[in-house]
Amino acid sequence: MIVSIVGARPQFVKAAVVSKALAQQGIPEIIVHTGQHYDDKMSQIFWDELEIPASSVNLGIGSGNHAIQTARMMEKIDDFLNNLADMPKALLVYGDTNSTLASTLVAAKLNLPIIHIEAGLRSFNRQMPEEVNRIVTDHLSNLLFCPSEESVMLLNKEGINKQVYNVGDVMMDAIRIFTSKAQKNALLKDLTDAKSGEFNLITIHRPSNTDNENNLLNILDSIGEINETFIWPLHPRTRVKINSIKLPSNLIVKEPFSYLQMLTMLENCNKVYTDSGGLQKEAYWMKKPCITLREETEWVETKHNNWNILTGSDKKKIIAASAFTIDTDTWQPLYGDGFAGDKIAEIIYDVFY
Ligand code: UD1
Repeated sequence: MIVSIVGARPQFVKAAVVSKALAQQGIPEIIVHTGQHYDDKMSQIFWDELEIPASSVNLGIGSGNHAIQTARMMEKIDDFLNNLADMPKALLVYGDTNSTLASTLVAAKLNLPIIHIEAGLRSFNRQMPEEVNRIVTDHLSNLLFCPSEESVMLLNKEGINKQVYNVGDVMMDAIRIFTSKAQKNALLKDLTDAKSGEFNLITIHRPSNTDNENNLLNILDSIGEINETFIWPLHPRTRVKINSIKLPSNLIVKEPFSYLQMLTMLENCNKVYTDSGGLQKEAYWMKKPCITLREETEWVETKHNNWNILTGSDKKKIIAASAFTIDTDTWQPLYGDGFAGDKIAEIIYDVFY
């Protein structure tokens, strides 16, 4: 049996893909949700929509500062594993959240093999909690699944050479698997009054933008100066930061979108403005230009031919980037073929069964 650990929104989407592939391969799995994300719109709705086949357990950790949240997770994950009738063959973790870090540390202490999906990503900015989480996770992992050659190379540079596979990105599988479901379920008219092709999608949730009022104000001011409509699904972390800020009138605030809703919004928007990691790739796969509100990106391949322009929170750069047009003929496939989940399940089967 494999125990997979998830905790934050994008991990539910990745788990939906991999869990289906593991089930097809006949590999038993239990998914443990740490409870890092707990609002219905940040958590339950994903489980309802994505039909995750494995049985799941929720540890109900909730929010806290990084050390406290991670420590609480470690205690509960350790407890959960020690109370299983048999130790799992391996612990499977995704990406770079505090849930990833906590589970990795627990597994390492129990001498359990660790499988890391989305290995080898680096922003080279250790101010980001995610950068610390992914470095530790990669170095403690036994089986590493990378989304690109670049990520394999970055691991090699850090001396991680064994059991490293470039399988592509499971988020691309998710788009392949769920697009038709999104087209049936999430109707644009229920999500926004804005018409297809007449709005940009914006998301902001990185501490570097939400916890630094200057950066947040710069971004919002820039949006106010771009004569286009922006739809902004608000992360709860950001909601508390904008209470006392007057928002520009071309910015329409929404509750967080579910995954299927997000796919619909992506399909119908013009451009994406974001500080999320996952959304940069999703914009690319959906052939939408992306303006990344960060100084650096782990997803460097998306920058070719101006498909992804990094602006940070610099007002001039954001406004300048909004005027860029791109040549759609320059688009080329990135991060695999949309069947990463199957490749992962086959390799896990070969290694552990
Ligand atoms: C986390 C991940 C980030 C990932 C993001 C995906 C870490 C360090 N960060 O960031 O890499 O991109 O998830 O969305 O693990 N909150 C709620 N309800 C919820 C969840 C959070 O109100 O359901 C609020 C709480 O005030 C909490 C804050 O949001 O303190 C931040 O949540 P947290 O899970 O710590 O990090 P994210 O910003 O969501």
